[in-house]
Amino acid sequence: MFAPALTILSFFSGVAFCKVYEDVADLPSLHYDFVIVGGGTAGNVVASRLTENSSVSVLVLEAGPTNKGVLDAQVPFLSNGVSDTGTPYSWNYTTTPQTGADGHVFDYLRGYLLGGCSSHNGLAYTRGAAEDFDRYANLTGDQGWSWNQIFPYFLKNEQWTAPADNHNTQGQFNPAVHGTSGPIEVSLSGFSWTEFERRVIQTTNEFPNEFPFNLDMNSGQPLGIGWLQYTIGHGERSSSATGYLTPEILRRPNLDVLLHAQVSDMVRPGLVRRIHTAHTAIRHAGTSLFIARASKEIILSAGAIGTPQILLNSGIGDHTALAALGIPTVLNLPSVGKNVSEHAYTGLSWAVNSNQTVESITQNATRYNEAFAEWNRSHTGPFVDPSPGTHAGWLRLNADSPLFNVHADPSPGPDAPHFEMLLQPFGFAGTQGHFVSFTMAMVSPVSRGSVTLSSNDPFAAPVIDLGLLSSEFDALALTEGVKLALKFATAPAWNHDGYLGAPTVDLAAMSHAELLAHVRANSGPGYHIVGTAGMSARGAQYGVVDPDLKVKGIAGLRVIDASVLPIVPGAHTQAATYVVAERGADLVKQTWAL
Ligand SMILES: Cc1cc2nc3c(=O)[nH]c(=O)nc-3n(C[C@H](O)[C@H](O)[C@H](O)COP(=O)(O)OP(=O)(O)OC[C@H]3O[C@@H](n4cnc5c(N)ncnc54)[C@H](O)[C@@H]3O)c2cc1C
Ligand SMILES: *[C@@H]1O[C@H](CO)[C@@H](O)[C@H](O)[C@H]1NC(C)=O
Ligand SMILES: *[C@@H]1O[C@H](CO)[C@@H](O)[C@H](O)[C@H]1NC(C)=O
Ligand SMILES: *[C@@H]1O[C@H](CO)[C@@H](O)[C@H](O)[C@H]1NC(C)=O
Ligand SMILES: *[C@@H]1O[C@H](CO)[C@@H](O)[C@H](O)[C@H]1NC(C)=O
Ligand SMILES: *[C@@H]1O[C@H](CO)[C@@H](O)[C@H](O)[C@H]1NC(C)=O
Ligand SMILES: *[C@@H]1O[C@H](CO)[C@@H](O)[C@H](O)[C@H]1NC(C)=O
Ligand SMILES: *[C@@H]1O[C@H](CO)[C@@H](O)[C@H](O)[C@H]1NC(C)=O
Repeated sequence: MFAPALTILSFFSGVAFCKVYEDVADLPSLHYDFVIVGGGTAGNVVASRLTENSSVSVLVLEAGPTNKGVLDAQVPFLSNGVSDTGTPYSWNYTTTPQTGADGHVFDYLRGYLLGGCSSHNGLAYTRGAAEDFDRYANLTGDQGWSWNQIFPYFLKNEQWTAPADNHNTQGQFNPAVHGTSGPIEVSLSGFSWTEFERRVIQTTNEFPNEFPFNLDMNSGQPLGIGWLQYTIGHGERSSSATGYLTPEILRRPNLDVLLHAQVSDMVRPGLVRRIHTAHTAIRHAGTSLFIARASKEIILSAGAIGTPQILLNSGIGDHTALAALGIPTVLNLPSVGKNVSEHAYTGLSWAVNSNQTVESITQNATRYNEAFAEWNRSHTGPFVDPSPGTHAGWLRLNADSPLFNVHADPSPGPDAPHFEMLLQPFGFAGTQGHFVSFTMAMVSPVSRGSVTLSSNDPFAAPVIDLGLLSSEFDALALTEGVKLALKFATAPAWNHDGYLGAPTVDLAAMSHAELLAHVRANSGPGYHIVGTAGMSARGAQYGVVDPDLKVKGIAGLRVIDASVLPIVPGAHTQAATYVVAERGADLVKQTWAL
């Protein structure tokens, strides 16, 4: 059944049987036990875990190209080169005008390459609060999603790794909460912005009530300020493609990956019941359409935008909306594409009286080339780190905040954050000079958005409405968050020696109303969309998948990716996606006794 693909051999030189196909004509079969749609963050985890059992066959269909040889997907500092709209590795999506954010239309970045967003994201490794997962357990009625039961999956996914500069990491993390033998390498920063970092830590000493130091934000108790951890090993990006599709795993005779394979919809023979016996997925390549078949399950792992799009294209969604586009309803499941939740970020920058900022690299071609050459030579130097910052703070509104009269507390509990504050030794102004930023995000949003279809052309871009700051509460809360960042900046640590200069925008001088207007005009998305195929309890009147990730009302179809998280966690979303995928793979194995 399986033949080596000669075209691919030259790509992965030295590897005997690499079954990452560029062309459907080379694919040995179109009939597998499992067809996984999307070779992204979650999809590759599922493919890797299912094929541990040699008795099942798995095909991964990925719309984008390979990650191999894409330097910007490898060098952490260069990740914008692979994430930005207009690169060959982006879906080039834009949002609808976001009314809560002054009507702005945003590029909505999504990875269009093997590894999906894990091949191009900002690399921050943050798990969220224990209460995020306990809330998922409560919402789904499945304790399997609780923090305690999910925790082993964090460890299974993770391989704690020394930072690229091998600095002494004592006091910067808690080894007891980390895995050491999983596929995804996680490390602390491998290049030190010492002067900036010292001031961050000093602020936690000066303002211990508002900004306490937290040894490890990934313990389930994230509140406070701690050192950021990254999905980086030995100065290189660690992604689902590098970690879960290693050359050794790709040699498995029961695993095939097809690139440039964009799935349009699932073939429906007319009756929902018949999907039991004929699980099929159509794929588009240039002008050619073909059908791939799954005898056990189709697993949708196309991400929080791709997955609802394929469901809707297949007639699984809100009957009225489908009918309006002339798509016959196979299953009326109104929650498909609804309940989008996303984080809103807004940056605050100050000029600094120092040259130890990232601008010393980005605004100095000589230094930039030196740093690149150093990475190239030894995988050390500033190019080993990406741009999120050196530390993050996870913060809350005051318990007696009057905002809780506007809306009940949307966070999952008192140990979970309302805000993230990213501490960054660089600015956003794009002007000459040296800057630092304390970027603030509202990470427990009330706002909800949607992903819907623009037409019945299955290859047309979907309509992405993040609902960013559409809830008044979120805008008011983010305004309070900005005040927290302003407070952080008043610490003697930043001011005793004239380090902190003028802010790029004088927010401290603004009235509350001006600040609120500024927040609406200057916020953007965090690219943390979830919820479009949300889990709910079995038998609930809403939701898309049951707690076992099976699509409600249809056999042989599961969703395993970030779409199933019913509410965005108070964290960047890749770690949560990885544990959804690890547990999801186990749930599939249980179903089929693999
Ligand atoms: C720019 C950016 C920065 C981010 N930074 C961070 C960060 O620092 N830390 C963090 O934790 N999280 C970050 N995230 C979020 C995080 O990366 C995502 O939440 C997570 O990776 C989503 O995983 P997924 O498996 O659901 O989807 P993806 O990883 O997007 O996987 C979906 C895959 O399916 C493919 N696909 C889609 N449609 C089809 C189709 N019709 N047919 C075939 N294939 C299809 C896609 O090409 C993609 O490969 C960031 C995201 C972005 C975009
Ligand atoms: C996004 O745009 C770039 C530049 O035009 C292109 O190379 C890439 O293929 C586009 N992505 C998709 C999914 O069409
Ligand atoms: C989950 O439900 C239990 C029992 O009702 C409750 O005690 C707990 O606070 C809930 N946790 C979250 C995070 O919702
Ligand atoms: C969105 O999720 C909430 C639970 O978080 C649920 O009550 C609501 O019905 C969902 N809405 C839709 C349209 O699915
Ligand atoms: C950075 O500033 C220090 C003093 O503040 C100065 O000695 C040094 O030459 C500067 N370095 C560069 C590269 O400009
Ligand atoms: C630019 O970088 C080079 C090499 O590190 C350094 O010698 C030079 O002083 C820098 N220029 C400025 C203006 O900082
Ligand atoms: C990286 O190293 C290779 C040789 O190993 C060299 O050919 C290439 O020019 C280097 N690139 C940079 C940017 O230094
Ligand atoms: C692999 O799957 C087959 C078929 O379900 C099952 O009989 C076998 O026990 C599995 N092997 C392992 C090692 O789990």
